[in-house]
Amino acid sequence: MSVVNMADVKAKTRDSGNAAPGQQPTHSIGSQPAYFSCWDIHAYYGESYIVQGVSFDIREGEIVALLGRNGAGKTSTLRAIARVDDPALKAGEIWLDHQPLHSMKSAQAAQNGVGLVPEDRRIIAGLTVEENLKLAQIAPPIGWSIDRVYDLFPRLGERRKQEGTTLSGGEQQMLAIGRTLARDVKLLLLDEPYEGLAPVIVQEIERTLEQIKALGMTTIIVEQNAIAALHLADRAIILDMGQVVFDGTAQDVLDSAELRQQYLAI
Ligand SMILES: Nc1ncnc2c1ncn2[C@@H]1O[C@H](COP(=O)(O)OP(=O)(O)OP(=O)(O)O)[C@@H](O)[C@H]1O
Ligand SMILES: [Mg+2]
Repeated sequence: MSVVNMADVKAKTRDSGNAAPGQQPTHSIGSQPAYFSCWDIHAYYGESYIVQGVSFDIREGEIVALLGRNGAGKTSTLRAIARVDDPALKAGEIWLDHQPLHSMKSAQAAQNGVGLVPEDRRIIAGLTVEENLKLAQIAPPIGWSIDRVYDLFPRLGERRKQEGTTLSGGEQQMLAIGRTLARDVKLLLLDEPYEGLAPVIVQEIERTLEQIKALGMTTIIVEQNAIAALHLADRAIILDMGQVVFDGTAQDVLDSAELRQQYLAI
């Protein structure tokens, strides 16, 4: 297998740290310290070994596209970072802004700034748009005000009294993102935000994600629509069979037909 693996190069140049127990190892990217690091994480669904030693770092404010074919382990990696129960994280370290996510459960990871927008959006049935947003703010740390969410997504403001599950797919995606921003998010994890949406709605959500990017939100975006994700992202990480096979700039992937054909089938 021909592997273009800048992660190896980076791993060799990174200082993996002499940190005291309980402190973040001093991983760095070039001269800047990493804001987020996952380091050699291994995660399982029961006996199924899926996330097989994934490592990468993200700078504050950076957008990373996490790409790879169906079944490559993208969703599983996001879920491991968000510390949901499945897949179980069996080894490795995950740090966000000096906090050890690897030793937390999902609720605590969320309190410490991890905001997962899951693929299935999980809008709560029986609640209006506004109630869905208010529910996100039931406990601290509170992020954006509900009015600010409506400024970002005017359609949600227009439909504030409508039951969330009766929204269109695109509007439900906006609500899922808005609900996450209504909490104090340090790392936004987007799992296929464009999935199942018409091109015109994809463009609308893309424009919103550009606005969120301009605010400096550190983000990982998983997308089958790799070209769209690469246009938004600064960096790209490609997974194959639960391992990182490429870590470089988004432009490197856009420029490499070989990479795109081998790992993304585009
Ligand atoms: N709950 C589960 N139990 C067992 N295996 C699972 C479970 N969820 C996912 N897997 C397996 O883990 C592997 C990675 O799945 P994952 O959903 O992370 O891939 P993905 O890269 O997000 O794919 P897609 O592009 O299709 O969303 C697949 O082989 C999948 O069958
Ligand atoms: Mg997935």
